[in-house]
Amino acid sequence: MEDVVVVNHPLVQHKLTQCRRLETETWQFRGLVEEITALLLFEAVRDMDTVEVDIVTPVGPCKGTVISKAEPVFVAVLRAGLGMVPGALKLFPYARAGHIGLYRDHDTHVPVEYYNNLPPDINDVDCFLLEPMLATGGSAVHALTLLKQAGVQNIRLLSLIAAPEGIKAITASHPDVKIYLASIDEKLNEKAYIVPGLGDAGDRLFGTA
Ligand code: URA
Repeated sequence: MEDVVVVNHPLVQHKLTQCRRLETETWQFRGLVEEITALLLFEAVRDMDTVEVDIVTPVGPCKGTVISKAEPVFVAVLRAGLGMVPGALKLFPYARAGHIGLYRDHDTHVPVEYYNNLPPDINDVDCFLLEPMLATGGSAVHALTLLKQAGVQNIRLLSLIAAPEGIKAITASHPDVKIYLASIDEKLNEKAYIVPGLGDAGDRLFGTA
C-alpha cells in the first residue's frame, strides 16, 4: 500500500496515544490534533517542488531553497476536520481553506452534504483534505468527488486514524489520492466507530458529549 503512509514517528505516536485516552480533556485533545496534523503534513509535503533562490543574509550572499508552487489549499470536512485546520495553517500561514459539510445519516451511515464552500481557482493547487477519522470512508469519498468536480487535480488526504474499511473505500474510488495517517486501527463497530479509535472526534474537539 505505497499510497497509504502511516507516519510512525515517535512524536506522532505519542501524541496520538494521548488523544486516544478517555481522560484527555477537550482543550488537550484540541492541541494534540493540531500538533499531529502539522506532523502529518510535514511528511505529506516531503516531495513538494522547490527552487533555488539567491538571498542575502546579514553576513553575505547565500543560496536558499523555497517552495516553488502557489500556496496549498486545505479543505476541512465539517465538523471534525476543523480541528486539523490550525495545525495545517501553522505550517502554511498563507494558505487558503475550504469547507465541506457532510453528516452521517444515523441509520444508513451514508454522508449527506449540507455545505460546500471552496476557494476559487483551485485546479492547479496542492490540495489537502482534512478528515481526522476515516471510518467507512463515505464522507471522504464524497468530499474527494466534490473536489474533483471543482477541478482539483492533486489531492492528498490527511487523517489521524483509519479503519481498514475506510482505506479500502478510498483506494477503490480514488486510487490517485495518497493517504497520510497516524494509525490504521483494527475495525469498525456496529455504529461505524473505529475500534479502538478515540471516540467521536468532533465531540472530543468541541466538548459536545
Ligand atoms: N467519526 C469519529 O469521530 N469517530 C469514529 O470512530 C468514526 C467516525
